[in-house]
Amino acid sequence: MPTRKLFLALLSSFAILLFFFFISFSIRLNFSSTTSLSNNTILLPGATQMNTQFTLLIGIFTRPGNFDRRRFLRLVYGIQSTPIAHIDVKFIFCNITNTEQQFFVALEIMRFNDIIILNCSENMNSGKTYTYFSTLPQILVTHYDYVMKADDDVYLRLAPLASSLHPLPRVDLYYGFVIPCPSMNAFVHYMSGMGFVLSWDLVEWIGRSNIPVNNTYGPEDKLVGQWLNLGNKAKNRFSAKPRMYDYPGTNGRCSHELIPDTIGVHRLKKWEQWIDVLRFFNVTKQLQPSRLYNVSFD
Ligand SMILES: *[C@@H]1O[C@H](CO)[C@@H](O)[C@H](O)[C@H]1NC(C)=O
Ligand SMILES: *[C@@H]1O[C@H](CO)[C@@H](O)[C@H](O)[C@H]1NC(C)=O
Ligand SMILES: *[C@@H]1O[C@H](CO)[C@@H](O)[C@H](O)[C@H]1NC(C)=O
Ligand SMILES: *[C@@H]1O[C@H](CO)[C@@H](O)[C@H](O)[C@H]1NC(C)=O
Ligand SMILES: *[C@@H]1O[C@H](CO)[C@@H](O)[C@H](O)[C@H]1NC(C)=O
Ligand SMILES: *[C@@H]1O[C@H](CO)[C@@H](O)[C@H](O)[C@H]1NC(C)=O
Repeated sequence: MPTRKLFLALLSSFAILLFFFFISFSIRLNFSSTTSLSNNTILLPGATQMNTQFTLLIGIFTRPGNFDRRRFLRLVYGIQSTPIAHIDVKFIFCNITNTEQQFFVALEIMRFNDIIILNCSENMNSGKTYTYFSTLPQILVTHYDYVMKADDDVYLRLAPLASSLHPLPRVDLYYGFVIPCPSMNAFVHYMSGMGFVLSWDLVEWIGRSNIPVNNTYGPEDKLVGQWLNLGNKAKNRFSAKPRMYDYPGTNGRCSHELIPDTIGVHRLKKWEQWIDVLRFFNVTKQLQPSRLYNVSFD
């Protein structure tokens, strides 16, 4: 029967096509799992071979003069890693107005290349967050899957952060610590400025929509929630409570005791608070013994 023959011929060519497709796909996977694809997107070896990788930019809002804090945060984030995400940590500030700071910051950039200077002036709640999100699509070579805004007094644990983002949608996502403090409903009000994540499509939307541009003055975190609500955006919301919180005793019902599966602890203003947190998470216990420093760091 001719139709039957035709059908068989089609079927076998389809099978051959499928075969070649699988071969080329598996070669591509093997190749990409160990290769740097571009400046901003690095697939780390040891990561799973399926399409589980994602990229995250953490922008830590700070001021040009906070050299000590940056020195410390570079250490704190430089010793962390996770196989499931490529994470870049960068410091974000507005125009530098002081000549000394200009020189010091230039040296930092030459050494660390982890600073983004926005075209804005350093005032609380005067549009830095809007400038941050709206500028990123214009200045980055490649986009990230997620962009985070974080304070410089928050301690983020990158592996738990990445694992919690991993199963979530890559688009239309708004993630963080929902305000008010006792609320567990991620859809009412907004995510605290201590550290919230937006998917890249929302970052682009902020830059292009006319809703945020006319509404940039006020508490920056609250405004982001208002923009998204007015724009009917962020259908996917995720509250990281109780794994994000304020340091014990610093902020009423936003605070609670340190817990082992923490993603972020906020309001670390004093060195003794940072040390308490680093000790709780056994951070310096990773230090390998050596004849070069045969001492106890407890
Ligand atoms: C990496 O960055 C350099 C300098 O900005 C640029 O010339 C180059 O094309 C980039 N490479 C990729 C793969 O994007
Ligand atoms: C920076 O912002 C100022 C004031 O909003 C504006 O006049 C200027 O053109 C901007 N500069 C750049 C390089 O975008
Ligand atoms: C920031 O500095 C640039 C370059 O010096 C200048 O063109 C711009 O107007 C400044 N922006 C603000 C908001 O001060
Ligand atoms: C935003 O403000 C500009 C300038 O004041 C105005 O022209 C524009 O219509 C406003 N857009 C919206 C959506 O309100
Ligand atoms: C830190 O180490 C101690 C002692 O090994 C252990 O009991 C504790 O659970 C660890 N803390 C965390 C947060 O992993
Ligand atoms: C550290 O010093 C102790 C004696 O104080 C010694 O027993 C130990 O072997 C030394 N550790 C290393 C890594 O050299």
